[in-house]
Amino acid sequence: MNDAPETLDGFLDAAWQRLGRGAADARSPARYPVLATVSPDGWPEARTVALRAASRQGATLEVHSDVAAAKVAALRADARAALHVWDPRVRLQIRAQGAVEIVEGVAAGPRWAKVPEGSRATYGKRPPAGEEIGGALEYEVLAERESFCALVLHVATLDLLHLGERHRRAMYDRESGWRGRWLSP
Ligand SMILES: Cc1cc2nc3c(=O)[nH]c(=O)nc-3n(C[C@H](O)[C@H](O)[C@H](O)COP(=O)(O)O)c2cc1C
Repeated sequence: MNDAPETLDGFLDAAWQRLGRGAADARSPARYPVLATVSPDGWPEARTVALRAASRQGATLEVHSDVAAAKVAALRADARAALHVWDPRVRLQIRAQGAVEIVEGVAAGPRWAKVPEGSRATYGKRPPAGEEIGGALEYEVLAERESFCALVLHVATLDLLHLGERHRRAMYDRESGWRGRWLSP
């Protein structure tokens, strides 16, 4: 998307195209979105994650995590989350909101099988992720499937903003079949 979006459908197409690129290409700006959740005591929490899959058909976005991570505890208490992407190449901001499904244990097996050997160390730590340790490197990596989970965001709304000569913003939601409407930016 190098030009300003002219139609609501074209704008939505462009956003899913960028999200798809993010999932497929580690150099794409959509590769590392920010995932925001609500902590069990009500604080907003945001962190960088790697986008692992994007399905326009199912309207899902997927990231992977250690099950012991604070974000997973937050999502167990409140499944609502937001995912944010800024793609400077096409001057497009994408904001997705929805509920997150946690895929873990045996159900996560097929995804775990596709995690490259070198990336497995991210999942499973002793002591568990987020616990205080005596020194910076006083932890072990376990690289175990039981510690791996997929967080599947079932997108309910998409808010798109294109910064052009004139800014353009549109909102889409699952309930209306992604019909979309323009908003004043
Ligand atoms: C470039 C980058 C990519 C990251 N990708 C992930 C990821 O895909 N999944 C993940 O759980 N954490 C990822 N992290 C680490 C998180 O930002 C965060 O530090 C960690 O998950 C703990 O967050 P939490 O305590 O809120 O769960 C990434 C960090 C950076 C800087």
